Amino acid sequence: MAIQWFPGHMNKAKKAIIDRMKSVDMVIEVLDARLPGSSANPLLESISARKPKLKILNKRDLADDARTQLWLDYYNSQFQTQSIALDASERGNVTKVIQASRQLVPSRNGLDKPLRVLICGIPNVGKSTLINSMIGKKSAKTGNEPGITKAEQRLFLADDFWLYDTPGMLWPKIIVPEGGYNLAASGAVGRNALDEEEVSLELIKYLSKHKHYRDLLAARYKIDEDDAELDTWREETWLETIARRRGTILGGGRIDYQKASEIVLTDFRSGYMGKITLELPNEWLKWLADARVA
Ligand code: G4P
Repeated sequence: MAIQWFPGHMNKAKKAIIDRMKSVDMVIEVLDARLPGSSANPLLESISARKPKLKILNKRDLADDARTQLWLDYYNSQFQTQSIALDASERGNVTKVIQASRQLVPSRNGLDKPLRVLICGIPNVGKSTLINSMIGKKSAKTGNEPGITKAEQRLFLADDFWLYDTPGMLWPKIIVPEGGYNLAASGAVGRNALDEEEVSLELIKYLSKHKHYRDLLAARYKIDEDDAELDTWREETWLETIARRRGTILGGGRIDYQKASEIVLTDFRSGYMGKITLELPNEWLKWLADARVA
Protein backbone atom coordinates (compact mmCIF):
# COMPACT_ATOMS: atom_id res chain seq x y z
CA MET A 1 0.00 0.00 0.00
CA ALA A 2 1.49 3.37 -1.01
CA ILE A 3 1.71 6.26 1.46
CA GLN A 4 -1.10 8.83 1.18
CA TRP A 5 -1.12 12.03 3.20
CA PHE A 6 -3.24 15.10 2.53
CA PRO A 7 -3.31 17.47 5.50
CA GLY A 8 -6.34 19.75 5.19
CA HIS A 9 -4.65 23.14 5.36
CA MET A 10 -2.57 22.76 2.20
CA ASN A 11 -4.95 24.81 0.05
CA LYS A 12 -4.55 27.82 2.30
CA ALA A 13 -0.79 27.56 1.96
CA LYS A 14 -1.04 27.27 -1.80
CA LYS A 15 -3.11 30.44 -2.01
CA ALA A 16 -0.69 32.34 0.24
CA ILE A 17 2.24 31.24 -1.92
CA ILE A 18 0.49 32.20 -5.17
CA ASP A 19 -0.32 35.65 -3.73
CA ARG A 20 3.20 36.28 -2.48
CA MET A 21 4.83 34.89 -5.63
CA LYS A 22 3.63 37.93 -7.60
CA SER A 23 5.75 40.34 -5.60
CA VAL A 24 9.01 38.45 -5.05
CA ASP A 25 12.16 38.42 -7.17
CA MET A 26 13.06 34.81 -6.54
CA VAL A 27 12.17 31.68 -4.60
CA ILE A 28 14.14 29.56 -2.16
CA GLU A 29 12.99 25.97 -1.97
CA VAL A 30 14.28 24.05 1.03
CA LEU A 31 14.69 20.34 0.30
CA ASP A 32 15.83 17.40 2.38
CA ALA A 33 19.26 16.43 1.00
CA ARG A 34 18.48 12.76 1.74
CA LEU A 35 15.49 12.86 -0.64
CA PRO A 36 15.66 15.96 -2.84
CA GLY A 37 13.21 14.70 -5.45
CA SER A 38 10.62 13.43 -3.02
CA SER A 39 10.83 16.47 -0.75
CA ALA A 40 10.30 18.89 -3.63
CA ASN A 41 6.86 20.35 -3.85
CA PRO A 42 5.29 19.25 -7.13
CA LEU A 43 3.09 22.34 -7.34
CA LEU A 44 5.78 24.86 -6.54
CA GLU A 45 7.46 24.23 -9.87
CA SER A 46 4.40 25.37 -11.80
CA ILE A 47 3.53 28.24 -9.46
CA SER A 48 7.07 29.63 -9.59
CA ALA A 49 7.86 28.74 -13.20
CA ARG A 50 9.27 32.12 -14.21
CA LYS A 51 11.12 32.99 -10.98
CA PRO A 52 14.80 32.27 -10.37
CA LYS A 53 15.16 29.49 -7.83
CA LEU A 54 17.65 28.63 -5.12
CA LYS A 55 17.34 24.99 -4.11
CA ILE A 56 18.77 24.42 -0.66
CA LEU A 57 19.69 20.82 0.07
CA ASN A 58 19.30 20.97 3.82
CA LYS A 59 20.40 18.31 6.35
CA ARG A 60 23.54 17.72 4.32
CA ASP A 61 25.14 16.42 7.53
CA LEU A 62 22.80 13.39 7.25
CA ALA A 63 23.11 12.91 3.48
CA ASP A 64 25.63 10.99 1.37
CA ASP A 65 28.18 13.59 0.20
CA ALA A 66 28.80 12.01 -3.21
CA ARG A 67 25.07 11.87 -3.92
CA THR A 68 24.58 15.43 -2.68
CA GLN A 69 27.12 16.54 -5.27
CA LEU A 70 25.17 14.73 -8.00
CA TRP A 71 22.00 16.54 -6.97
CA LEU A 72 23.81 19.90 -6.87
CA ASP A 73 25.14 19.29 -10.39
CA TYR A 74 21.68 18.27 -11.54
CA TYR A 75 19.99 21.42 -10.21
CA ASN A 76 22.81 23.76 -11.19
CA SER A 77 22.46 22.65 -14.80
CA GLN A 78 18.85 23.86 -14.84
CA PHE A 79 17.72 27.23 -16.17
CA GLN A 80 17.70 30.08 -13.61
CA THR A 81 18.52 27.66 -10.80
CA GLN A 82 21.25 27.59 -8.18
CA SER A 83 21.72 24.93 -5.57
CA ILE A 84 23.67 24.78 -2.32
CA ALA A 85 23.86 22.17 0.43
CA LEU A 86 23.57 23.26 4.06
CA ASP A 87 23.38 21.99 7.59
CA ALA A 88 20.75 24.30 9.09
CA SER A 89 22.45 24.46 12.47
CA GLU A 90 25.80 25.69 11.12
CA ARG A 91 27.01 29.26 11.33
CA GLY A 92 27.51 31.24 8.14
CA ASN A 93 24.38 30.02 6.35
CA VAL A 94 23.05 33.53 5.92
CA THR A 95 26.15 34.55 3.92
CA LYS A 96 25.93 31.45 1.73
CA VAL A 97 22.24 32.02 1.04
CA ILE A 98 22.65 35.70 0.24
CA GLN A 99 25.65 35.02 -2.02
CA ALA A 100 23.89 32.26 -3.94
CA SER A 101 20.76 34.39 -4.29
CA ARG A 102 22.77 37.34 -5.58
CA GLN A 103 24.27 35.11 -8.25
CA LEU A 104 20.75 34.44 -9.43
CA VAL A 105 19.51 38.03 -9.19
CA PRO A 106 22.58 40.28 -9.31
CA SER A 107 22.49 43.70 -7.70
CA ARG A 108 22.77 46.59 -10.17
CA ASN A 109 25.31 49.01 -8.68
CA GLY A 110 23.40 49.43 -5.45
CA LEU A 111 20.45 51.00 -7.28
CA ASP A 112 18.17 48.07 -6.56
CA LYS A 113 15.27 47.79 -4.23
CA PRO A 114 15.82 45.06 -1.63
CA LEU A 115 15.86 41.53 -3.00
CA ARG A 116 12.49 40.02 -2.11
CA VAL A 117 12.68 36.27 -1.61
CA LEU A 118 9.98 33.74 -0.86
CA ILE A 119 11.10 30.67 1.12
CA CYS A 120 9.11 27.44 0.75
CA GLY A 121 9.47 23.87 1.88
CA ILE A 122 7.34 20.89 2.75
CA PRO A 123 7.13 19.92 6.44
CA ASN A 124 10.24 18.60 8.18
CA VAL A 125 12.85 19.70 5.64
CA GLY A 126 14.22 22.04 8.30
CA LYS A 127 12.91 25.35 7.00
CA SER A 128 12.23 26.75 10.48
CA THR A 129 15.60 25.63 11.82
CA LEU A 130 17.33 27.20 8.85
CA ILE A 131 15.43 30.47 9.23
CA ASN A 132 16.23 30.52 12.95
CA SER A 133 19.90 29.98 12.26
CA MET A 134 19.91 32.75 9.67
CA ILE A 135 18.13 35.37 11.78
CA GLY A 136 20.05 34.33 14.87
CA LYS A 137 17.17 33.90 17.28
CA LYS A 138 14.29 31.53 17.92
CA SER A 139 11.45 33.41 16.28
CA ALA A 140 10.51 30.89 13.59
CA LYS A 141 8.84 28.11 15.49
CA THR A 142 10.20 24.56 15.10
CA GLY A 143 8.29 21.46 16.16
CA ASN A 144 8.18 17.73 15.92
CA GLU A 145 4.85 17.25 14.18
CA PRO A 146 4.88 18.00 10.42
CA GLY A 147 2.38 20.46 9.00
CA ILE A 148 2.04 23.07 11.75
CA THR A 149 0.96 26.42 10.30
CA LYS A 150 2.11 29.87 11.28
CA ALA A 151 1.38 33.38 10.05
CA GLU A 152 3.44 34.84 7.23
CA GLN A 153 6.61 36.58 8.32
CA ARG A 154 8.91 39.03 6.59
CA LEU A 155 12.45 38.65 7.82
CA PHE A 156 15.33 41.03 7.16
CA LEU A 157 18.39 38.89 6.48
CA ALA A 158 20.23 42.06 5.43
CA ASP A 159 19.16 45.63 4.62
CA ASP A 160 18.76 44.64 1.00
CA PHE A 161 17.50 41.07 1.50
CA TRP A 162 13.93 40.42 2.59
CA LEU A 163 12.79 36.88 3.19
CA TYR A 164 9.08 36.01 3.13
CA ASP A 165 7.94 32.89 4.96
CA THR A 166 4.36 31.92 4.12
CA PRO A 167 2.00 30.25 6.57
CA GLY A 168 1.33 26.53 6.25
CA MET A 169 2.94 24.04 3.94
CA LEU A 170 2.18 23.22 0.34
CA TRP A 171 1.90 19.54 -0.36
CA PRO A 172 -0.87 18.54 -2.68
CA LYS A 173 -0.03 14.98 -3.62
CA ILE A 174 2.52 12.21 -3.36
CA ILE A 175 2.90 11.39 -7.04
CA VAL A 176 5.51 8.65 -6.86
CA PRO A 177 5.13 5.64 -4.53
CA GLU A 178 8.87 5.53 -3.80
CA GLY A 179 8.68 9.20 -2.88
CA GLY A 180 5.91 8.48 -0.38
CA TYR A 181 8.05 5.86 1.32
CA ASN A 182 11.10 8.13 1.34
CA LEU A 183 9.11 10.97 2.87
CA ALA A 184 7.73 8.60 5.48
CA ALA A 185 11.19 7.22 6.25
CA SER A 186 12.52 10.75 6.72
CA GLY A 187 9.75 11.63 9.19
CA ALA A 188 8.00 14.14 6.92
CA VAL A 189 4.67 12.27 7.02
CA GLY A 190 2.41 12.36 10.07
CA ARG A 191 2.73 9.14 12.08
CA ASN A 192 -0.95 8.25 11.81
CA ALA A 193 -0.63 8.08 8.00
CA LEU A 194 1.98 5.35 7.88
CA ASP A 195 2.60 1.76 8.72
CA GLU A 196 6.06 1.77 10.26
CA GLU A 197 6.74 -1.86 9.40
CA GLU A 198 5.95 -1.30 5.74
CA VAL A 199 8.06 1.87 5.62
CA SER A 200 11.02 0.24 7.36
CA LEU A 201 10.85 -2.75 5.01
CA GLU A 202 10.94 -0.43 1.98
CA LEU A 203 13.86 1.44 3.53
CA ILE A 204 15.76 -1.79 4.18
CA LYS A 205 14.97 -2.99 0.65
CA TYR A 206 16.57 0.13 -0.84
CA LEU A 207 19.57 0.11 1.48
CA SER A 208 20.26 -3.59 1.03
CA LYS A 209 20.35 -3.17 -2.77
CA HIS A 210 23.25 -0.67 -2.58
CA LYS A 211 26.50 -2.25 -1.39
CA HIS A 212 27.76 0.76 0.58
CA TYR A 213 24.44 1.20 2.37
CA ARG A 214 24.13 -2.53 2.95
CA ASP A 215 27.49 -2.39 4.71
CA LEU A 216 26.27 0.48 6.88
CA LEU A 217 23.14 -1.48 7.75
CA ALA A 218 25.14 -4.60 8.61
CA ALA A 219 27.60 -2.59 10.71
CA ARG A 220 24.85 -0.79 12.63
CA TYR A 221 23.20 -4.05 13.69
CA LYS A 222 26.36 -6.13 13.95
CA ILE A 223 25.31 -8.47 11.18
CA ASP A 224 28.42 -10.33 10.05
CA GLU A 225 27.15 -12.85 7.53
CA ASP A 226 29.30 -12.88 4.40
CA ASP A 227 28.31 -11.07 1.21
CA ALA A 228 27.21 -14.23 -0.60
CA GLU A 229 24.75 -14.96 2.21
CA LEU A 230 23.50 -11.34 2.41
CA ASP A 231 22.90 -11.40 -1.36
CA THR A 232 20.14 -13.92 -0.74
CA TRP A 233 18.40 -11.97 2.04
CA ARG A 234 15.06 -10.34 1.50
CA GLU A 235 14.11 -7.26 3.52
CA GLU A 236 11.99 -9.42 5.85
CA THR A 237 15.09 -11.45 6.75
CA TRP A 238 16.97 -8.24 7.54
CA LEU A 239 14.18 -6.98 9.78
CA GLU A 240 13.88 -10.28 11.59
CA THR A 241 17.65 -10.39 12.14
CA ILE A 242 17.68 -6.78 13.37
CA ALA A 243 14.86 -7.65 15.77
CA ARG A 244 16.83 -10.57 17.16
CA ARG A 245 20.03 -8.51 17.48
CA ARG A 246 18.11 -5.79 19.32
CA GLY A 247 16.09 -8.22 21.42
CA THR A 248 12.66 -7.02 20.33
CA ILE A 249 11.08 -10.36 21.16
CA LEU A 250 7.60 -10.81 22.62
CA GLY A 251 6.31 -13.58 24.87
CA GLY A 252 6.56 -17.03 23.34
CA GLY A 253 9.58 -15.93 21.29
CA ARG A 254 7.49 -14.01 18.78
CA ILE A 255 9.26 -11.19 16.96
CA ASP A 256 8.09 -7.65 17.71
CA TYR A 257 8.34 -6.31 14.15
CA GLN A 258 6.73 -3.00 15.12
CA LYS A 259 9.44 -2.26 17.67
CA ALA A 260 12.21 -3.38 15.31
CA SER A 261 10.77 -1.11 12.59
CA GLU A 262 10.72 1.86 14.96
CA ILE A 263 14.38 1.23 15.77
CA VAL A 264 15.31 1.13 12.08
CA LEU A 265 13.41 4.34 11.31
CA THR A 266 14.78 6.20 14.32
CA ASP A 267 18.31 5.13 13.44
CA PHE A 268 17.89 6.32 9.86
CA ARG A 269 16.30 9.65 10.85
CA SER A 270 19.00 10.41 13.39
CA GLY A 271 21.84 9.49 11.06
CA TYR A 272 22.98 6.62 13.31
CA MET A 273 23.33 4.31 10.30
CA GLY A 274 25.64 6.79 8.58
CA LYS A 275 25.22 9.34 5.82
CA ILE A 276 22.53 8.05 3.48
CA THR A 277 20.61 9.50 0.52
CA LEU A 278 17.57 7.58 -0.64
CA GLU A 279 17.45 8.66 -4.25
CA LEU A 280 19.67 9.74 -7.14
CA PRO A 281 18.58 12.24 -9.79
CA ASN A 282 18.35 9.45 -12.38
CA GLU A 283 16.36 7.22 -10.07
CA TRP A 284 13.98 10.02 -9.25
CA LEU A 285 13.42 10.81 -12.93
CA LYS A 286 12.76 7.15 -13.66
CA TRP A 287 10.24 6.87 -10.80
CA LEU A 288 8.48 9.95 -12.15
CA ALA A 289 8.39 8.52 -15.67
CA ASP A 290 7.10 5.15 -14.40
CA ALA A 291 4.39 6.88 -12.35
CA ARG A 292 3.24 8.83 -15.41
CA VAL A 293 3.01 5.67 -17.50
CA ALA A 294 1.12 3.74 -14.80
P1 G4P B 1 10.26 22.48 9.06
O1 G4P B 1 10.20 23.88 9.56
O2 G4P B 1 10.72 22.40 7.66
O3 G4P B 1 8.99 21.72 9.28
O4 G4P B 1 11.37 21.68 9.87
P2 G4P B 1 12.05 21.99 11.30
O5 G4P B 1 12.90 23.21 11.21
O6 G4P B 1 11.01 21.92 12.35
O7 G4P B 1 13.04 20.74 11.40
C1 G4P B 1 12.56 19.41 11.43
C2 G4P B 1 13.56 18.54 12.15
O8 G4P B 1 14.78 18.50 11.37
C3 G4P B 1 14.00 19.07 13.52
O9 G4P B 1 14.28 17.94 14.32
C4 G4P B 1 15.28 19.81 13.23
O10 G4P B 1 16.12 19.91 14.36
C5 G4P B 1 15.88 18.91 12.17
N1 G4P B 1 16.81 19.62 11.27
C6 G4P B 1 16.58 20.76 10.59
N2 G4P B 1 17.64 21.09 9.83
C7 G4P B 1 18.57 20.13 10.04
C8 G4P B 1 19.90 19.90 9.51
O11 G4P B 1 20.44 20.62 8.68
N3 G4P B 1 20.53 18.77 9.95
C9 G4P B 1 19.96 17.91 10.85
N4 G4P B 1 20.66 16.85 11.24
N5 G4P B 1 18.72 18.10 11.37
C10 G4P B 1 18.05 19.20 10.95
P3 G4P B 1 13.26 17.39 15.39
O12 G4P B 1 13.77 16.08 15.82
O13 G4P B 1 11.87 17.49 14.84
O14 G4P B 1 13.36 18.41 16.53
P4 G4P B 1 14.63 18.76 17.45
O15 G4P B 1 15.48 17.55 17.51
O16 G4P B 1 15.35 19.90 16.80
O17 G4P B 1 13.99 19.15 18.73
